[in-house]
Amino acid sequence: MSKRVCVITGSSSGIGAASAILYAQQGWDVCVNFSRDENPAQEIAEQCRSYGSNVLVEQADVAEDSQCRRLAQNVASHFGRCDVLVNNAGTTKFVALADLEGLSAVDFQQIYAVNVIGAYQMIRALLPLLKLQLGAGIVNVSSIAALIGSGSSLAYVASKGALNALTLGLARALGPEVRVNAVAPGMVDSPWLKKGLGSERFVALKSSYEESSALRSIVTPSDVAETIYWLGAGAAKTTGEVHVVDGGRRVGRA
Ligand SMILES: NC(=O)c1ccc[n+]([C@@H]2O[C@H](COP(=O)([O-])OP(=O)(O)OC[C@H]3O[C@@H](n4cnc5c(N)ncnc54)[C@H](OP(=O)(O)O)[C@@H]3O)[C@@H](O)[C@H]2O)c1
Repeated sequence: MSKRVCVITGSSSGIGAASAILYAQQGWDVCVNFSRDENPAQEIAEQCRSYGSNVLVEQADVAEDSQCRRLAQNVASHFGRCDVLVNNAGTTKFVALADLEGLSAVDFQQIYAVNVIGAYQMIRALLPLLKLQLGAGIVNVSSIAALIGSGSSLAYVASKGALNALTLGLARALGPEVRVNAVAPGMVDSPWLKKGLGSERFVALKSSYEESSALRSIVTPSDVAETIYWLGAGAAKTTGEVHVVDGGRRVGRA
């Protein structure tokens, strides 16, 4: 019997890369996706292969439906199956929440195109393959930004709220065949925030985050990958949920 297959969008870096490696370590075959930079995707693919995984590396911008459909077709011809889809690819623009003039309609549209419509398009493209597998799962990578009303920009916050709503609606629509859940990470130690904020602001935010969180900790890509793995491969009776992994940031400290 062929191994189970997981497709992870945006898996050349950060949370997506840690998830691809974890699925490979657990004996799955994986599709590693990137949109711009192939080299890091090939490096992650090599790491996955070192655990015996059959790896397909696919360039596709999830905002482009034709590229989502091409990826799904290539997964079908390469593996002949897909058991789990992780919609991890995301984008943002760093604009202070109070700076309403700093965020245009085009910014909203570009962020929604990847964070919301991209996830929808990937699900639509892979659904026929997912439906063939008993216990198939979809995991959408959201953010606590949607739950606390704060993050890199209002457009990002709203896009992750929309992704949570999409998760709930699709959990209804795709049951009983396919489970649909989301993970909502807090501040993650990945290139995303370091690039977006610059290293000085990143270090300052990290220390205030640690100070105000119950577990006194930011989150690593591997922490999020653990939950992504559980929601995809296990969690047989869980659907429509948004699972927070934030080091206790929302809980706060006594
Ligand atoms: N970092 C955080 O603090 C944090 C917190 C909460 C939630 N999240 C969410 O976690 C997810 C991953 O974040 P990360 O921190 O791991 O980011 P990251 O390290 O910057 O990695 C982003 C990945 O997404 C890919 N990507 C970007 N746009 C894409 C597109 N349009 N189509 C396909 N792939 C695309 C990138 O590859 P290319 O560069 O080649 O496109 C890269 O592989 C995002 O959805 C983000 O919103 C992050």
